[in-house]
Amino acid sequence: MNKIWLSAMLFAVVLVISIITSGQTSSLGKDTLTMITSPDYPPYEFYDTKAGNRQIVGFDIDIARALTQELGFKLKIMESDFNGLIPALQANRADFVMAGMTPTPERRKNVDFSIVYYQAKDTIVAPKNSNLKQPQDLAGKKIGIQLGTIQEQSAKKIAQKVPGIELKQLNKVPEIVQEIKSGRIDAAIVEDTVARGFSQANPDLEFNVIPSEQESGSAIAFPKGSNLVKPFNEGLQLLKDRGELEKFVTKWFSQNTSTATVSSRPAKGGLNLDFTRILPDIPFILKGIPLTLLFTLFSVFLGLIWGTILSLCKITGIKPLRWLANAYTSIFRGTPLLLQLALVYYATPQLTGYDISALEAGVLTFTLNSGAYMSETIRGGIQAVDKGQAEAAMSMGVPYRLMMWDIILPQALKNILPALVNETIGLLKDSALVSTIGVVEILRSAQIVGANRYIYFEPLLFAGLIYYVLVMGLTKSASVLERKLRQSE
Ligand code: ARG
Repeated sequence: MNKIWLSAMLFAVVLVISIITSGQTSSLGKDTLTMITSPDYPPYEFYDTKAGNRQIVGFDIDIARALTQELGFKLKIMESDFNGLIPALQANRADFVMAGMTPTPERRKNVDFSIVYYQAKDTIVAPKNSNLKQPQDLAGKKIGIQLGTIQEQSAKKIAQKVPGIELKQLNKVPEIVQEIKSGRIDAAIVEDTVARGFSQANPDLEFNVIPSEQESGSAIAFPKGSNLVKPFNEGLQLLKDRGELEKFVTKWFSQNTSTATVSSRPAKGGLNLDFTRILPDIPFILKGIPLTLLFTLFSVFLGLIWGTILSLCKITGIKPLRWLANAYTSIFRGTPLLLQLALVYYATPQLTGYDISALEAGVLTFTLNSGAYMSETIRGGIQAVDKGQAEAAMSMGVPYRLMMWDIILPQALKNILPALVNETIGLLKDSALVSTIGVVEILRSAQIVGANRYIYFEPLLFAGLIYYVLVMGLTKSASVLERKLRQSE
């Protein structure tokens, strides 16, 4: 048992170090530039789920690749909701943003922009035959817009002139489209090229260009004072001169590059599930499984080690240690896991300067959190081991550390196995929470497929099935393990 524990510890340490260093090479040594985008915006940037290879593709991505290649950098792509892009630049999480972003005066106060590489217009997207074509038609209507975009500004300006408009801000453009289709909003203000893709994919929708309330081209955003602006501008000019930009425009914005095959709106009231609609995307969702499993194993394993350390602190005679361990547990059990996750992910770069990846933030938070829970379980397990054993060991002169390692902990662990399995199941399901910080695990894969295909029920049900099968597998293997341990008694 002793050896197993030692090698387990060693393994954990090596893993942690490798996680930390793997993240560092790319952010420190600047041979790679990190771009952050909001991949909800076909044809500018969106997930290509068809190939099952979970790639972000689109007009902006092609330009970014051509530019970084031209300048001799490798490219790494991160994602966030649109309204999180500028904060990401400010926190130095990324070197630049390409997300069909318009260089508005307000944004210029916080970030620097390249030259405009594509001009766009605003449109009204609405159900066919609804006759919502001009701003004045929107009187008394409910209008959807993407949070933090210039379309939100345009809609606000229109609402000042046209009476009775109610605005609904949403995080992602596919959500807006879905809301129109389900009749929760009447129309939306969306950029022309994006609107075209969505209306092609959804024959029940149409779009009409409206007079511009403001400029709406796209430019690349950089942190204030970034020395990348100049080379990027030169690169953009080069792409323009060589006609490459034009090629990308034709590739992505020509009439028939529809974004995703789309099912028509389900009959009202009827549930009509049809899993064949997500068939081509199933590999994409399944690819979330290894990540989820790896994540869970890591967190359980590190949590177990951390929990053991905490539990030992809780039963020692050293008062400050006991106090600290108890305070720690009470904090981590007393606040929501989701909140801890967001704090670790968003605050770490500011506090430590280390640009923690979403996955690392997830493992760290889950380890810290499950350590708190496990410490109580392990403490209970230790205290349940017959006192006589400890007394006997001490009277035979076995040192405290050896006694714990060799005699008490192994028995405690065996006794608390069912509780540990419970904890693991909990972690496996809670791993879905890391989807909120952009890790594309099972749940998020399912949501991406849903957004791309405008169907929500089937991918979510499928994801539910995967979780269930995983938990069942875990339960089965745990009971086999338990039986083995009992036999060896
Ligand atoms: N051009 C608009 C803006 O800058 C909308 C951009 C939205 N981009 C996106 N990837 N969702 O506000």
